[in-house]
Amino acid sequence: MLNNQIPVFIYQWYELNKRDLPWRETTNPYQIWVSEIILQQTKVVQGLGYYYRFLDLFPSVQELANASMDDVLKAWQGLGYYSRARNLYQAAKLIVELYKGEFPNTYKEVISLPGVGEYTAAAICSFAYNQPYAVVDGNVFRVLSRIFGINTPIDTSKGKLEFQALATSLINQRSPALHNQAMMEFGALQCVPQSPDCHVCKINTVCSAFLNNQVSSLPVKGKKSKIRARYFNYLVIKVGVSTFLQKRESDDVWKGLYEFPLIESTNNLVVESLMIESEFKLIFSDSTIKYINPHPTVFKHVLSHQVIFAKFWEIDLNKFHLSNRLRVNWNEIHLFPTSKLIENYLNSRT
Ligand code: ADE
Repeated sequence: MLNNQIPVFIYQWYELNKRDLPWRETTNPYQIWVSEIILQQTKVVQGLGYYYRFLDLFPSVQELANASMDDVLKAWQGLGYYSRARNLYQAAKLIVELYKGEFPNTYKEVISLPGVGEYTAAAICSFAYNQPYAVVDGNVFRVLSRIFGINTPIDTSKGKLEFQALATSLINQRSPALHNQAMMEFGALQCVPQSPDCHVCKINTVCSAFLNNQVSSLPVKGKKSKIRARYFNYLVIKVGVSTFLQKRESDDVWKGLYEFPLIESTNNLVVESLMIESEFKLIFSDSTIKYINPHPTVFKHVLSHQVIFAKFWEIDLNKFHLSNRLRVNWNEIHLFPTSKLIENYLNSRT
């Protein structure tokens, strides 16, 4: 079978099996951009609600650019990978400044926006403008590696170049949007990572992996990087009806989110070891603690390269002042954007 016949089979499959998804009903580049940024690290089912809410709150680039960072982070709360929200916001401001609020329509301009890489630029340019850029996301890597029997690891630069070149050679010049949607949907629904139902697949007669019994071993990934364990001790300070929050300024995944004062330790602390930490002594030097107890659950939060074990220390004091922190009424914590970890803790108390 010729290479260019394979996509035709996939288009036929797509017409019969595709999901109705709102971002497929539009060519508005802003809406497509928002959907693609949400879907970068989020499954469709979880992303749908966020997509609708985000567009309700910020219906256009201008409205997003005019919002506050806190409002945007709040709309993103629970989705994780908050750099996506920060980049959306920065990019919206850039689009207003550089392009008078008109979403750019060349690949070069689109890829230069913060948070937009090769995949997202190809998705926006093909879906919004029908330009012939082939998307290569996790689904497409899987589909191509199996059909063509390619065992170059997909997370190496050699693999990325090889798969991008193959995807580009297959793209349908007349309907790039349909082509890209079909390739991704086929990977998402039929050619799934675990135990795909190859016997019902219409292209099993030309699928190298199926014919050579390699479905479960493709695509190949390089070595996993080591996961780092981190121990967070959040100080949930209770003074009457208020507590203290701080805004995370460090340049990491939670930048800009609010959290309780935090002491990071190299291992899991018990109360005696927490109380001799120098940061703890500094914070509470002038105070008399009425009680200090860890919340019974240690919250585990898994990120791509680290796993965080968070203990929430509930501390009761009569009188207390903490400079550089925000004194917040308990009932108002929900108004601040916070990480999923903090949200889980707060939910566990109510
Ligand atoms: N994942 C990323 N982009 C997508 C899209 N446009 N449709 C469905 N799933 C996706």
